[in-house]
Amino acid sequence: MRFRTEHIMPPPIVELLEVAKSWAQRDDFLNLGQGTAGYIPCRDAVRALAEQIWNPRLHTYTPDQGLIELREEVALYVRRTHGFDADPQTEIVITAGGNQAFAGAVLMLVGPGENIIVPEPYYFNSVMAIQLTGGIARSVPVGPNLQPSAEVVRSAIDDKTRAVLLVSPNNPTGSVYSQHVVDEIVDLCLENDLMLISDETYARLVFEGARHYSPRSRRDAEDNVISIGSFSKDLGMAGWRVGFLVGSESFVSEYMKVQDTVAICASTAGQILALEALKREEQFVDRELARLARLRNIAYSRMEEIDALEPIRTRGTFYLFPAIRGCTDSRELALNLLKEESMFVLPGSVFGSTGEGHIRISIGPLTPDAVEEAFDRMGRFFSRR
Ligand SMILES: Cc1ncc(COP(=O)(O)O)c(C=O)c1O
Repeated sequence: MRFRTEHIMPPPIVELLEVAKSWAQRDDFLNLGQGTAGYIPCRDAVRALAEQIWNPRLHTYTPDQGLIELREEVALYVRRTHGFDADPQTEIVITAGGNQAFAGAVLMLVGPGENIIVPEPYYFNSVMAIQLTGGIARSVPVGPNLQPSAEVVRSAIDDKTRAVLLVSPNNPTGSVYSQHVVDEIVDLCLENDLMLISDETYARLVFEGARHYSPRSRRDAEDNVISIGSFSKDLGMAGWRVGFLVGSESFVSEYMKVQDTVAICASTAGQILALEALKREEQFVDRELARLARLRNIAYSRMEEIDALEPIRTRGTFYLFPAIRGCTDSRELALNLLKEESMFVLPGSVFGSTGEGHIRISIGPLTPDAVEEAFDRMGRFFSRR
């Protein structure tokens, strides 16, 4: 039997974690591959959920679109974090994570042979979702400043192009796209009647005075922009599978066909936890951001001491994406780091060919001491080469 998914690469983290499994048992194993901020949800929110554990409503479906109380909280959250208004009745859907939101949007937009323009390096699941539909992810490189260029995007548009994807703050580079760049790409989408899918999973994770700018805050583009969010990172809820999608009323009402078929609704317990966590979000996340900012400072200053690493300092996420001087095979490098230093990083090549020669280091789950230890090990590793 042949399967229609055979042309798609296997999920890279799953595959690499399989290789790393035997090292992961060791006491000295350092995992810098995992894309989470390394904390569990706010305790008071978990307690509030626990108090409801025997309530029958927790064990059954919610409306397909998600609990209305949660959608109302999401509307307040996107107003604070993303700077736009969305109607909880008609423009917000709660999904089983950002990935489900994105895959659903792609299902609605792309058919076989059609394409979405994807700035590269890219988050690999974005490309996999497009390929699952028989569509083409047409990747365009970001510039040396790690911002996409409207001109480069424009040159990739053809009559089969259906949408442009922006992921800001970016996985894997951490780049926060400037308002100017985002506005130029919004204009391009409006001129060419394209959708703009804006994956804003890391909207809250910005540092050093950076501001997240959402393309949906452009009132003239509300019909063309789909904004995707996740509570996996900032609320520490990766295991609960809750995210959301914001789109125009007509997009959302059409989206409900996908939602009902693929998920029916996001996990009810997860939605209640998200609701409780969002009520306490500002203080909780601000405190975690202060912790992450400290880790970022340690990591960036330690990277400067290692000649082989060429970092570009970006202001979003807990990812670092340095180029490695002279490296042409990042997968081999990642495997050697695993074997020689018992530490796991992601090879840049899993984020597209322009990611080759880089590694992605996730410091989210680490303590300050573990960040120091990670760079001690990398210093040793590269000094032997
Ligand atoms: C850019 C981006 N979008 C979406 C996701 C997935 O989020 P979720 O756990 O909400 O599906 C990730 C996870 O790493 C991500 O990096």
